[in-house]
Amino acid sequence: MEAVRVRGLTVASAERALLRGVDLDVPEGGLPGARTALVGASGSGKSLTAAAVLGRGLPGLRVTGSVRVGGAEVLGVPPQRRPAASRASSVGQDPSRALHPLVAVGAQVASPLRAQGLSRRAARSEALDLLAAVGLAGGRAVADARPGELSGGQRQRACLALALARPGPLVVADEPTTALDVVTQTGVVELLRERTGGPGQPALLFITHDLAVAAQLCQRVVVAAEGRVVETAVCSHLLAGPSSAAGRSLVTATRRAASALPPRTPAGVTP
Ligand SMILES: Nc1ncnc2c1ncn2[C@@H]1O[C@H](COP(=O)(O)OP(=O)(O)OP(=O)(O)O)[C@@H](O)[C@H]1O
Ligand SMILES: [Mg+2]
Repeated sequence: MEAVRVRGLTVASAERALLRGVDLDVPEGGLPGARTALVGASGSGKSLTAAAVLGRGLPGLRVTGSVRVGGAEVLGVPPQRRPAASRASSVGQDPSRALHPLVAVGAQVASPLRAQGLSRRAARSEALDLLAAVGLAGGRAVADARPGELSGGQRQRACLALALARPGPLVVADEPTTALDVVTQTGVVELLRERTGGPGQPALLFITHDLAVAAQLCQRVVVAAEGRVVETAVCSHLLAGPSSAAGRSLVTATRRAASALPPRTPAGVTP
């Protein structure tokens, strides 16, 4: 089954069409493509697609089509009427939206664990483990901090820990590594690889404009351009031979970024 199945998703403002019939599948954990990347230039419609998958209201916009998460329709269904198995969790472009400003980070991560039946002590300990796993070591100091007392990158990692603490069919990660340095970014990508996409784990929809990061983490990639899906491919196939213009320009940009680094050659050999 699919963790998410999007069909004919159309979003329009009063002035213009923003998404024009998006079709997108992410298979459930354990199946090929359970970690799928959605890539595309800025403004191509990635975050709007994510918002629809998360069942967020899009005030002022007209939304049509179908979005099924964990088998249940979420489009137009208020959150309280959705079955728990259809609630995707998110790591966003803007972590301040996901975290409560007045509640300590550790308590926020522990709360969904408590809701799953863990004792207060077990939930606290699991929350500390999750915070450490996302690279927020610092133990109690970080767990007891409020979001405003953390750096932007630390807040983004706290969001990731929160998303992983919530059980659900799907994690939607919208540019989850933008505020992070390269070393931390690698750690987050590794953590997502460990914790999503496997049997019994949530599937992952990973949104990025960075094809190199997408290829490290995901088996499949969906390319968006101007509110449409223009190509769906196995990552290595896209890198070897993109079939759409948008796919080609992403691959070219990725190659250019890679060639800006010194080539890896044995010591003493001049390339
Ligand atoms: N609430 C809104 N009202 C009107 N237009 C919107 C709204 N939200 C997004 N848009 C427009 O829809 C288009 C797609 O936006 P979206 O945020 O999905 O892009 P994106 O692919 O996530 O880009 P980025 O890589 O910069 O995050 C953009 O042209 C944007 O200006
Ligand atoms: Mg976006």
